[in-house]
Amino acid sequence: MAPATDMIPVPDSAVDGTHCTLDQYRAMYARSMDDPDGFWLEQAGRLDWFKKPTSVSGWSFDPVEIAWFEDGEINICHNAVDRHVEAGNGDRTALIFEPDSPDTPVRRFTFSEVQREVVRMANTLKKMGVAKGDRVTIYMPMIPEGAFAMLACARIGAVHSVVFGGFSPDAIAGRIEDCRSDYVICADEGLRGSKAIPLKANVDAALKKVAVKQVLVIRHTGGAVEMTEGRDRWYHEISEGVSGDCPCEVMKAEDPLFILYTSGSTGKPKGVVHTTGGYAVWTETTFRYVFDYREGEIYWCTADIGWVTGHSYIVYGPLQAGATALMFEGVPNYPDHSRFWQVVDKHKVNIFYTAPTAIRALMREGNDHVDKHDLSSLRLLGSVGEPINPEAWRWYHDHVGHGSAPIVDTWWQTETGGIMITTLPGAHGMKPGSAGRPFFGIAPQLVDNEGAVLADENTGGAAEGNLCITRSWPGQARTVYGDHDRFIQTYFSHYPGKYFTGDGCRRDADGYYWITGRVDDVINVSGHRMGTAEVESALVLHEKVAEAAVVGFPHDIKGQGIYCYVTLNAGVDADDALAGELRQWVRTEIGPIATPDHLHFTPGLPKTRSGKIMRRILRKIAENEFGSLGDTSTLADPSLVHGLIEGRQNR
Ligand code: WTA
Repeated sequence: MAPATDMIPVPDSAVDGTHCTLDQYRAMYARSMDDPDGFWLEQAGRLDWFKKPTSVSGWSFDPVEIAWFEDGEINICHNAVDRHVEAGNGDRTALIFEPDSPDTPVRRFTFSEVQREVVRMANTLKKMGVAKGDRVTIYMPMIPEGAFAMLACARIGAVHSVVFGGFSPDAIAGRIEDCRSDYVICADEGLRGSKAIPLKANVDAALKKVAVKQVLVIRHTGGAVEMTEGRDRWYHEISEGVSGDCPCEVMKAEDPLFILYTSGSTGKPKGVVHTTGGYAVWTETTFRYVFDYREGEIYWCTADIGWVTGHSYIVYGPLQAGATALMFEGVPNYPDHSRFWQVVDKHKVNIFYTAPTAIRALMREGNDHVDKHDLSSLRLLGSVGEPINPEAWRWYHDHVGHGSAPIVDTWWQTETGGIMITTLPGAHGMKPGSAGRPFFGIAPQLVDNEGAVLADENTGGAAEGNLCITRSWPGQARTVYGDHDRFIQTYFSHYPGKYFTGDGCRRDADGYYWITGRVDDVINVSGHRMGTAEVESALVLHEKVAEAAVVGFPHDIKGQGIYCYVTLNAGVDADDALAGELRQWVRTEIGPIATPDHLHFTPGLPKTRSGKIMRRILRKIAENEFGSLGDTSTLADPSLVHGLIEGRQNR
């Protein structure tokens, strides 16, 4: 069992009298367990409600029915934008936009300006025929209009489905089709590291496979695009003359707010559904406590709005808390590897939230890039998306956080809506590599593969197993769009009565949680979740491929890389050209984030006599762990393994 080691105490910089102390954390956590309704009603009280909820938690994990604040009425756009204007803070900066190139002027928006922009977009959507409950697909670069589009949907009660700008036309089409979305919002092009990303052209290609009523196109780069008469509208044209007034729609707490597609261990990506009231309370509360935001500070989360981190901690969390959030269009290595630090210096960023993969990539480039910028404004650092290795943690702490800024390592998922396990900066000492302690209202539990509870959740105690959560929390996903059975199957069938996260986890004797990675067929590549099944389906679509099995393997920068075992149709020769072609094929089918790192051609895959692929063996071989293959005697053709090992050693 993990010893309780290596605790780095709460740094002085985390203590300012307004922070949450350890005693307060303990008292608040205890209350969130003993009196959840009282606790969450109090947290919900920071937000404006059209109708204050009287009921708070109404949920069951068996049968699965989840609701929070059910009789409350609220609008999250009102809380993120209008509420601050009405409170006299309209002149406060809400959004700072740092473009891809350091030479392009910065754009800033006060809360009043955000309100004006969101109202304009909301009324434009209405003019196009978008109504409450309609699904709107958003395929945008990291520009303020991406956030405005989300907020505009929320304002009028439309359900947004943001598709990451790196996804392929096929991926867009699949998502539009799945949630039957009649409207798309996109930009002409995006910019990343001076390269133009053809967003509108990708939408055009997607719409060859699936039809929508209207496409709203935002001019960003000014690059040439084709406009289809009657379907495509320029935002700057159609928004002309729309009213400057657009009241926020009254939403029931359980009305859907958004759908976000995420990968699972089987099948196509799932449309995870989040609803309005609970998500609003959860993102505001977690943002406030985890980042310990202080008025006037500049907060920067480097995620993309196409992922849940962007939804919860670029848009909804910070804006609801009245924070000033920086939005960055570009990439960490353009014009050079000091870009992140140059932006921190330029805007005097106080709170910086990024992913371990970025930290590792920048660490590799040496300290000069960091040292040449003044990072003294940084007061708090955050990490999200995958386990952070202690070496990267220490570099982040020593070189970026000048040895004094606390780091919050936040564990959560698309399905959890917001942060679940983390230290609170002023309350908890830190252990490099451990996410820390459960947030208010979160009841983690470790179980073995048969579902037996390991150690006691109430007294803690060291244990290692599969991470479950035994109680609902306000930000929990409510369903999978159009397929509630899949929701139940995926999250509640392994261990009935519990939400199963899909992650393995260890708890040490201090009650700190150490996420060990996915225990299902999901891999985490540069912090992006990917189902191995998705990559396999893409590969077998190729006419020369007979069968494919995809596993993850440890990768220095990406955390995990993508390792593909491929068998070819009879008569097809395996060569480098075909490997290159298949790599490109997967990029086109899914997107560049799914590009295989290794393509391993093999005459067959190791299977049991009943025909089941033995992934355990494939994983071990990809990991170069040939000594621990376990029992191979149940294989239909044990001789295959030798060839696979040889093939691995030769690359
Ligand atoms: C992993 C991203 C370790 C985990 C917010 C989870 C982490 C999956 C951490 C969810 C962390 C996320 N430490 N692992 N701090 N944060 N993960 O849905 O495996 O894109 O299940 O949400 O990322 O990825 P998702």
